Amino acid sequence: MKATQSKSPIFKYFLISIFLTLPLLLLLLLFSLKAAVHPPPLPQNVALSESEDLRIRPGYSSYDAYIQRQLNKTLNPKLRTTWTTRDWDRKIQVFAKFFDDLKRKKLLSNESKALCIGARVGQEVEALKRVGVSDSVGIDLVPYPPLVIEGDFHRQPFDDETFDFEFSNVFDHALYPDKFVMEIERTLKPGGVCVLHVALSKRADKYSANDLFSVKPLVKLFKRSEMVRVRKVDGFGLDTEVVFRKNPLDSILVTIVS
Ligand SMILES: *[C@@H]1O[C@H](CO)[C@@H](O)[C@H](O)[C@H]1NC(C)=O
Ligand SMILES: *[C@@H]1O[C@H](CO)[C@@H](O)[C@H](O)[C@H]1NC(C)=O
Repeated sequence: MKATQSKSPIFKYFLISIFLTLPLLLLLLLFSLKAAVHPPPLPQNVALSESEDLRIRPGYSSYDAYIQRQLNKTLNPKLRTTWTTRDWDRKIQVFAKFFDDLKRKKLLSNESKALCIGARVGQEVEALKRVGVSDSVGIDLVPYPPLVIEGDFHRQPFDDETFDFEFSNVFDHALYPDKFVMEIERTLKPGGVCVLHVALSKRADKYSANDLFSVKPLVKLFKRSEMVRVRKVDGFGLDTEVVFRKNPLDSILVTIVS
């Protein structure tokens, strides 16, 4: 009789202590999940991540050195003049054909909220508007208003689940391909579509930060999406179009996990 009486208070304290620590544990779990969803700032020194079919080009001493090199191309006055004059209509027409094709395949519609990543002077944004996708904008390190606003594709300046459609032909300029893709998947709505134009069979320009040799690394990087299309294209030196669709159940899954 006495023994059970002395045991039950201890059991009570045990229960109380569990109830007190449970919220703390849940809070810790939540924070670790948040940290996983929002990656910490980029390291200053460039770590070389190598995989068979995706190679990061060596030679950048810091993130700033990389950005300076990218700015050097984007700000090159000769290139900018060419982009906005001789290239302007020709490129818009080619982009418009790509986007028309994506509309026919129901991967893009007039109602899509669309983003072009690394859009330079925004020929692809203008092409989207011309085919009827009026809610379109581009980002690049240097803005070109009103088509292109300032933004680093390693840290997109947008909230989660903002866009229905994202297009980019500058994957090769990503020093951190994993962050490039993570940011796309973060800002795409569930069910949203990402279209990449990449070069698989020849090397891109001297400003590239990585070299891609197959679509396999992309499939690996797009963790929250499914590859829905691959085809050969002729897109200004880029030969392959790869289309991913973010899991339509993505936000439900995230809610259950957290
Ligand atoms: C950037 O471009 C200028 C010429 O426009 C050149 O003199 C300079 O060396 C370049 N810097 C880098 C880091 O490539
Ligand atoms: C989309 O917009 C284009 C250009 O404004 C227009 O010609 C086309 O009919 C629109 N399509 C739909 C399905 O509304």
